[in-house]
Amino acid sequence: MSKSIAIFGGSGFLGRKICEVGIGLGYQVTSFSRSGKPPSINEAWVDKVEWVHGDIFKPESYKEKLKGKSAVVHSIGLILENQGYKKSMNSNFNFLSDLQNLASSLKGPNPMKKDRLNTYEAIQRDSAVILADAYLEQQKEDPTFVYISADQKIPIIPEGYINTKREAEFELSCKKDLRSIFMRPGVLYNESDPPLNNRRIFTQFVGLGYDIKNTLLGNNIDFINQLVRPPCSTEQVATKIFAKIEDKNASGVVLLDEIRK
Ligand SMILES: NC(=O)c1ccc[n+]([C@@H]2O[C@H](COP(=O)([O-])OP(=O)(O)OC[C@H]3O[C@@H](n4cnc5c(N)ncnc54)[C@H](OP(=O)(O)O)[C@@H]3O)[C@@H](O)[C@H]2O)c1
Repeated sequence: MSKSIAIFGGSGFLGRKICEVGIGLGYQVTSFSRSGKPPSINEAWVDKVEWVHGDIFKPESYKEKLKGKSAVVHSIGLILENQGYKKSMNSNFNFLSDLQNLASSLKGPNPMKKDRLNTYEAIQRDSAVILADAYLEQQKEDPTFVYISADQKIPIIPEGYINTKREAEFELSCKKDLRSIFMRPGVLYNESDPPLNNRRIFTQFVGLGYDIKNTLLGNNIDFINQLVRPPCSTEQVATKIFAKIEDKNASGVVLLDEIRK
């Protein structure tokens, strides 16, 4: 089978790195997203990816294109059901007012305005099952599905975030003809982002907390180890995804410690 991969969410923060690494390894890469547009980065690999418009909730519109794909990646998630936080994490302007915006996003969406497709359940669990079923219909030979899950519950983020990730892992692992790989990264940063980018600042802060914990307490107190987790880079996740896809015996959960190795 040819090396070809479909990445749902390939234009996103993590997805674009998976596309880039895939191109570097000689894969034919197709990215699906609602916009169908490439990220605005001026790098040679971008032109080698096929950027396709596709809404994961409408499998009739894309399933034909899954035929012959050696693997499919689900890289779509929702950290808060109120999307206002994204502007804050990606902007580089007033950091204090960004933090205030982030805090107000935590109050959640106005229940009267809640969109049934904009929930943890729909985006993180149901969309993965819809995609896996569409892929299984098209691909009979060694179908491989990579689901981007998460390390653990993040303090202050609602339980629904991690619960629906785990439910998706369970649902996918019940599909007996599918080889499923569940990546569980921690907070992500991109090594090539400038150091003063808000996301970089945030992950440097998380990394510093982790280093201080290791220096003062080592790895001996389980409860603290669970609370203070290290960040990892999009490069580490993307590289590990392809290592797992190419190891035909690999399946199941890939923990944060293994991703960081
Ligand atoms: N960022 C982190 O620190 C972090 C940490 C741990 C785990 N994760 C997980 O990693 C995954 C990727 O996160 P990310 O930060 O890269 O997300 P992101 O930047 O928000 O990217 C999401 C991607 O999904 C696409 N998308 C959204 N809804 C879609 C739909 N209905 N149909 C098709 N495409 C859709 C978006 O493009 P359009 O809007 O154009 O559709 C975009 O390409 C998620 O599962 C997340 O939970 C992230």
